[in-house]
Amino acid sequence: MKGIILAGGSGTRLHPITRAVSKQLLPIYDKPMIYYPLSTLMLTGLREILLITTPHDQDAFRRLLGDGSQLGLQISYVVQEEPNGLAQALILGEEFLAGDRCALILGDNLFHGPGLGTYLRRNTEVKGALIFAYQVSDPSAYGVVEFDGQGKVLSIEEKPITPRSNYAIPGIYFYDERASRMAHELTPSGRGELEISALNNAYLRAGELNVEVLSRATTWLDTGTHESLYEAGGLIRTLQHRSGLRIGDVEQIARDQGWV
Ligand code: DAU
Repeated sequence: MKGIILAGGSGTRLHPITRAVSKQLLPIYDKPMIYYPLSTLMLTGLREILLITTPHDQDAFRRLLGDGSQLGLQISYVVQEEPNGLAQALILGEEFLAGDRCALILGDNLFHGPGLGTYLRRNTEVKGALIFAYQVSDPSAYGVVEFDGQGKVLSIEEKPITPRSNYAIPGIYFYDERASRMAHELTPSGRGELEISALNNAYLRAGELNVEVLSRATTWLDTGTHESLYEAGGLIRTLQHRSGLRIGDVEQIARDQGWV
């Protein structure tokens, strides 16, 4: 399995901060935001990583992460010319994936929790698609999954006005080798994007979508607004101070994994 981090987009909800700086380079307490999703992929055991950025931000990411060798990784880069949707990552990543399975993670999603790496690592032999569900009080800003009484998936909806459940779909997705091919078959949504929910619905129709509910012990934050950015920084600070452990420290993870 290879990893893709999608770190493009226009970050309009964070203007004026993101007019000149990529959102995914903003600090979450003591590290750039991109360290957190990168650390999640590293804890999943993935070492070949594609970073998708806007054309004008790629240089800054290269200055930060280079070719990844200092972390025992191979990081390559691709530009997304326009924010045409999350599922476009699978098309832009087609050559990089070269028929392998992939984990796609959004550059502004932050995951933390006991045993998360071990749990994700157990699922890397994915057949079909594996996505996750996380209970939130207001899921209407997210992809939302609806289950029946037996836990079977009934529907996936993107940002529904009236959500059918409280289960939001966090920004980490595991796909088998068909993802790029299936992404090519998608058509843009009403807002002109290749939606990740459309790709997940294609897997659902094929009977090959698996959804796992993330443990309540897992923290999931997305950091796309001023409020959520501020909250995430405070939370990382509190957790690190309290435990003395570091969160999202990619250098430390590379050493712990024995990669450097
Ligand atoms: O955070 C999880 C949610 O992420 C999911 O529950 C939704 O199903 C999914 O559509 C997505 O919703 P968002 O509204 O958060 O997506 P947003 O447009 O903010 O994009 C998420 C990240 O991906 C953001 O860091 C910018 C980046 N991005 C976005 C688009 C549309 C790109 O790099 N390229 C793009 O074309």
